[in-house]
Amino acid sequence: MQVGCNSPGLPAAFLQKILILLHVTMCVVVGKTLMILFPNAMKRYILKLGEKSRMNENPKFSYENWGPTFFSFKYLLFVLKVKWKRLEDEALEGHPAPNTPVVTLSGEVCRLFDFVQDNRPLILNFGSYFSSIADFLIIYIEEAHAVDGWAFKNNVVIKNHRSLEDRKIAAQFLQKNNPLCPVVLDTMENLSSSKYAALPERLYLLQGGKVIYKGGVGPWNYHPQEIRAILEKMK
Ligand SMILES: *[C@@H]1O[C@H](CO)[C@@H](O)[C@H](O)[C@H]1NC(C)=O
Repeated sequence: MQVGCNSPGLPAAFLQKILILLHVTMCVVVGKTLMILFPNAMKRYILKLGEKSRMNENPKFSYENWGPTFFSFKYLLFVLKVKWKRLEDEALEGHPAPNTPVVTLSGEVCRLFDFVQDNRPLILNFGSYFSSIADFLIIYIEEAHAVDGWAFKNNVVIKNHRSLEDRKIAAQFLQKNNPLCPVVLDTMENLSSSKYAALPERLYLLQGGKVIYKGGVGPWNYHPQEIRAILEKMK
């Protein structure tokens, strides 16, 4: 099946992107159709998904705010971006962790490993406003639910960050809710987000320069309790 083995890099990645595009488009078309034909069954299904995240826990944030946004065009664009970005993943369990650049809220550029103390494990919590369970180092990446992207209703109003300043302002909201936890910003190249395949939210545990634990992709597979289990084993 391997045609043109001498230059597999570019065409293979391109083909992969096309396949992802087809797959995501098909899923969205099927999902949208089912939503029109069987609105109640789909609502139950989407609510079930919601149970796996913390989406259902906020009483002010009802299904009507987020459920109907599923399978929209903006949803399609976002899912596509997430899946395409995941092709750039360089963070593998047991392998060296990417030491990507981040920016502190005071504007200083540094790297993830600058937050490592001796051989202590470092937990990375990638996310944007929507995912605000705090652990050790929060890396504020691009917005998952920007008002000009796949927006939810009754959510905070944050646009896609056009500049680092936009991102900083958004992160300051988050910092207000998690004053004990250091928050840094991904740079506008979004390298931390890409190399850790972190969009929309994801947990990692690093130690000794290596990725010890790579969490599942949020919100459905974002499980802070897994980190606790690992830390307890380390004691
Ligand atoms: C990084 O993400 C922001 C959205 O927060 C986007 O505007 C910008 O174009 C992205 N940068 C790159 C290099 O893709």
